Amino acid sequence: MTPAADVDWERLRAVARDAMSRAYAPYSGYAVGVAALVDDGRTISGCNVENASYGLSLCAECGLVSELQNTGGGRLTHFTCVDGNGEILVPCGRCRQLLYEFGGPGLLLETPAGVMPLSEMLPQAFGPGHLAK
Ligand code: THU
Repeated sequence: MTPAADVDWERLRAVARDAMSRAYAPYSGYAVGVAALVDDGRTISGCNVENASYGLSLCAECGLVSELQNTGGGRLTHFTCVDGNGEILVPCGRCRQLLYEFGGPGLLLETPAGVMPLSEMLPQAFGPGHLAK
């Protein structure tokens, strides 16, 4: 996997900001955009899509993993998330689990506290490995 220092995080953040500009967040007013690198070199992204039945709202990460699967699958290697101001944002707890499914503990996340592996953001994660036992 490409080391964190060799990744163009600014470019990845620009992709996330572009996705954020297409967010549908009329209820919270809180736009979110995400972007990730895939192990085959693809760059994918997503934005949040809310719903009048609030609980059905989709986080930006839902769109991202859907795009991942629908454009060929693969493994997530590097991820960033931005808020409506384009500032780096931490993914919510549920979305850390979504990311774990497709990136595992080594997925590198850009956070306000720096780049760190998902294993530090979601310790002792439950995942596909448990079901294989
Ligand atoms: N949101 C995301 O899209 N991803 C996150 O990781 C954090 C929260 C969205 C959900 C909702 O549309 C809005 O932000 C406010 O919670």
